[in-house]
Amino acid sequence: MKTHQEARPAPGILKKTGEKSPSRASGQIFMEFEIVEFNEEDREGLISLWRSCELTVPRNEPGRDIDRNLADPAGRIFLLKKGHLVAGSVMVGYDGHRGWVYYLSVHPDYRNQNLGRALMIHSEDYLKTLGCPKLNLMVRSHNYSALGFYDRVGYQKDDVVVMSKRLVSDHRQ
Ligand SMILES: CC(C)(COP(=O)(O)OP(=O)(O)OC[C@H]1O[C@@H](n2cnc3c(N)ncnc32)[C@H](O)[C@@H]1OP(=O)(O)O)[C@@H](O)C(=O)NCCC(=O)NCCS
Repeated sequence: MKTHQEARPAPGILKKTGEKSPSRASGQIFMEFEIVEFNEEDREGLISLWRSCELTVPRNEPGRDIDRNLADPAGRIFLLKKGHLVAGSVMVGYDGHRGWVYYLSVHPDYRNQNLGRALMIHSEDYLKTLGCPKLNLMVRSHNYSALGFYDRVGYQKDDVVVMSKRLVSDHRQ
């Protein structure tokens, strides 16, 4: 079983009250929120969260994105949960050279409480346990609020152009 070392508590109002997280299933508790790994029972809530954060686009079928991440041994989907409510998420991957995060989201009702920062710190700590030296992420160029957020949590713009080629269509035939 893969292990995940304890995440650093985020600065600000978040206080970690839970215990270490040695397994896929257990997590850290920040006041009434906890960061845990995705479980099948969370699928509907997660997709609903992504929709409420406007992270879904027609070309990507969210259920397939979840399935692909689950099929990757290094892949993780961390959820910020309050009871059964999925209040935030981040999808993490490591390709052996760079770590990547996708679908970072905090429900609009819970923003500006350092929860997005806590999800990023959790992801960074997970990637460090894999020996990952650098984390990359992509932000749509018009997503100014996300760009502002990433700047505040320590990310800088790199002078690169992202190029892509679709290999599999998510549209069902
Ligand atoms: C981006 C997002 C995850 C931030 O979550 P959050 O929990 O509100 O952010 P935090 O409270 O942890 O903020 C951490 C820091 O970022 C800053 N920040 C947060 N939102 C910001 C914004 N819209 N513009 C500028 N700075 C912002 C905070 O002020 C804080 O800075 P500080 O250290 O000076 O106090 C959330 O706004 C979101 O889900 N957005 C929609 C989905 C999205 O665009 N995701 C990114 C995809 S690439």
